[in-house]
Amino acid sequence: MILYRSFIQLCLIVIFTSRSVSALAIEKRIPVPAGYVAPPYYPAPRGGWTSDWSESYRKASMLVSNLTLAEKTNITAGTGIFMGRCVGNTGSALRAGIPQLCLQDGPLGIRNSDHNTAFPAGITVGATWDKDLMYARGVALGEEFRGKGINIYLGPSVGPLGRKPRGGRNWEGFGSDPVLQAFGGALTIEGVQSQGVIATIKHLIANEQEMYRMYNLFQPGISSNLDDRTLHELYLWPFSEGVRSGVGSVMIAYNAVNGSACSQNSYLINGILKDELGFQGFVMSDWLAQISGVASALAGLDLSMPGDVHTIPLLGNSYWMYEQTRSVLNGSLPLDRLNDQVTRILATWLQMGQDQDYPPPNFDTNTQDAEGPLYPGALFSPTGVVNHFVNVQGNHAEVAREIARDAITLLKNVNGALPLSQNAAIKVFGTDAEKNPDGINSCDDQGCNKGTLGMGWGSGSSRYPYLDSPIDALKKRGVNYQFFNTDNFPSNSNPSPNDTALVFITADSGENYITVEGNPGDRTSANLNAWHNGDKLVKDVAAQYGNVIVIVHTVGPILMEEWVDLPSVKAVLFAHLPGQEAGDSLAQVLFGDVSPSGHLPYTIPKSESDYPESLSLVGFQVGQPQDTFSEGLYIDYRHFNKENITPRYAFGYGLSYTTFTFSNASVTAITPLTSVPPTRPAKGETPSYSTAIPPASEAYWPSNFDRIWRYLYSWLEKSDADAAASAANSSNKYPYPEGYSDVQKPGPPAGGAQGGNPALFDVAYDISITVTNTGRAAGKAVAQLYVQFPSGNPLDTPIIQLRDFAKTGALAVGQSQELRLRVTRKDLSVWDVVSQNWIIPNLEGDYGIWIGESSDALSLRCGTQSGTCEEGVPSPV
Ligand code: NOJ
Repeated sequence: MILYRSFIQLCLIVIFTSRSVSALAIEKRIPVPAGYVAPPYYPAPRGGWTSDWSESYRKASMLVSNLTLAEKTNITAGTGIFMGRCVGNTGSALRAGIPQLCLQDGPLGIRNSDHNTAFPAGITVGATWDKDLMYARGVALGEEFRGKGINIYLGPSVGPLGRKPRGGRNWEGFGSDPVLQAFGGALTIEGVQSQGVIATIKHLIANEQEMYRMYNLFQPGISSNLDDRTLHELYLWPFSEGVRSGVGSVMIAYNAVNGSACSQNSYLINGILKDELGFQGFVMSDWLAQISGVASALAGLDLSMPGDVHTIPLLGNSYWMYEQTRSVLNGSLPLDRLNDQVTRILATWLQMGQDQDYPPPNFDTNTQDAEGPLYPGALFSPTGVVNHFVNVQGNHAEVAREIARDAITLLKNVNGALPLSQNAAIKVFGTDAEKNPDGINSCDDQGCNKGTLGMGWGSGSSRYPYLDSPIDALKKRGVNYQFFNTDNFPSNSNPSPNDTALVFITADSGENYITVEGNPGDRTSANLNAWHNGDKLVKDVAAQYGNVIVIVHTVGPILMEEWVDLPSVKAVLFAHLPGQEAGDSLAQVLFGDVSPSGHLPYTIPKSESDYPESLSLVGFQVGQPQDTFSEGLYIDYRHFNKENITPRYAFGYGLSYTTFTFSNASVTAITPLTSVPPTRPAKGETPSYSTAIPPASEAYWPSNFDRIWRYLYSWLEKSDADAAASAANSSNKYPYPEGYSDVQKPGPPAGGAQGGNPALFDVAYDISITVTNTGRAAGKAVAQLYVQFPSGNPLDTPIIQLRDFAKTGALAVGQSQELRLRVTRKDLSVWDVVSQNWIIPNLEGDYGIWIGESSDALSLRCGTQSGTCEEGVPSPV
């Protein structure tokens, strides 16, 4: 806060009028490499055309038809950064019963609050491969956000997808595969929204690194250049599933796609999101990602967050609010577009039932104190009680602990080194085993790596209510341990042959506005190595002890080659980012109360050079940094398989204390397939309103209004409003973008409902298998289903692609469970860039449906042609 205050003072010295600021936005796009295009797509499709939303739209339209112009523009933007209790606060229309809406981070728990749960991060949830837990965490998150009076949950994050192993925010999402991300994202949305909280899927799209993500005064944000097929088959996939689950809002990414800033990329928002995916909710900008006024509205943006201009916020300047009012009065922005923006926002609010007994915010993200300024961004603000310290944790620690535990991924276990016996003599090394001695919340937004690493840093973090550390858990169990709270091998540990050494190491990353130990979000200086000389610590311990167990808290893959094959390193566990429940969840696995059942949500390479060069971080470039996705579909295991590179540990890998067999597999054809899906349903009716420009008086400031300096308002001075209204009649017209049209389109063939043409989700094949616990301990198994396209497929397609997965309950020794999996039409299709549709390129071909416990351990194959399944088949990769 103090930092921001001085920033305000600094900003005040720079006098920028809103006029010169908006002039910056009319710059031409910077050219991108040949072949990458962001074509125009206009107009913004109106919302409300799917039957599952029509009632909310009907009600919303009744509200909207009674709003004044300034009330409408007050709803479509935030009131300014730090101008309210939440990270984002919309304006209200109290006369019509519409409150300010509170938008709050983040994906793993409420950011900067109190008495909330710090759940395991998305990457940890992905590692459970457990759909029930994905949903249960969503429900618990929803309960907490609602309990604090938050209308809009700023999660889940499914973009970044995890294309770049060093990318700073991959840990907020569920793993480097579109289908794993899709299930993680969609089930989180369904859970959160079951509580009446609006979920926000983010960041659309291809925001794969932190550095250079934002447009600023000096440089445009990075351009992610990707082709249409890659967009559809990888990066868009989880967004489609989120939309299909009825997500209420979508956050637009900072970066550009193919040269056009996502926040005003009409092809992306109007074309792909609203028309092809049939998105019915509203589209918000990431914070200060909006870079223009009318242009971004025409391109489909509905809500500006936090409301300020992106160049120098906090001066009371906005591209919308009062400017949007002006742009409607002077005829630049068609009223039809503004009406659709407001209708989308209010329909979403109604769709979640937030018009009925929804609590107002009872916390303040800007302070931990009970009292504070109501508008911390203002120089002079009234103060009041802002934090009521409402405890929203319920029994959520249980689901958090279950996730943390069932995500733990056993990568190596020689001679049954694990589980440990309760009376083992244990020596513990590494500062990660115990809480940060400065305090568990001593670093803002967890912007440090000190003590147990339960989450990465940035807006995706939350404050810990407590942190159950591994040492806490050992204490609680009364085991015989000695702890050396250092990352350097101590000279006084007195190794004895009966000792078991536990070595804790970490790798951290986060969001770009904080640099930790030289890493500005992305892992630039840490590379993919363990932090704090973790490799050396493991090697030093392994030189002195014969029974070493390595435990890794990490945001993503790390290089393990220096130590993983050392004979004393007997076992390796990835505990990912467990949130507050780091201790007991780990102890339950270490001591064999449960078998580990996590599986890797990404590949672990042997060397960074195993990845394609294009997956490296893009460094400084003069002008707009260009990040060209030349690897196309080949990220993570898709690349390793194609290039026949053996990773250290494959995507999906994870051992157990027991063994499982998969048997009795059967495949049943359900929906007969056609090369092209059945024709999409037509769009339904959308609300219609008068399109006449409202009178200027609807924009006048109310008399005797007590203004807060630099707060963003939607009113204009009378003279301004009158001038704007008379400009509507002048011959000087707004320069509409190339390809602009105001005629609503029927929508592309691939659309037709939320998520796309509903026929895409027809189940093509049902697969059933019996999983049997054939080992000597109870445990849960994960069945992963990968599709291999028929050999005659004319399009270059990854050898195998994950399409579904299922996890058993805890199976006792000898016990069996039947699992059901499914493959949809879309799962068997490719995106045809010519017909702009999902097609099955080789209808008669024999698809391989492979099921196994890891992407590199597939020996059960069901064939679509034969309709039978075979065990013991050589693996496709
Ligand atoms: C920027 C981040 O990219 C986004 O994920 C977050 O929700 C907003 N800031 C608000 O804090």
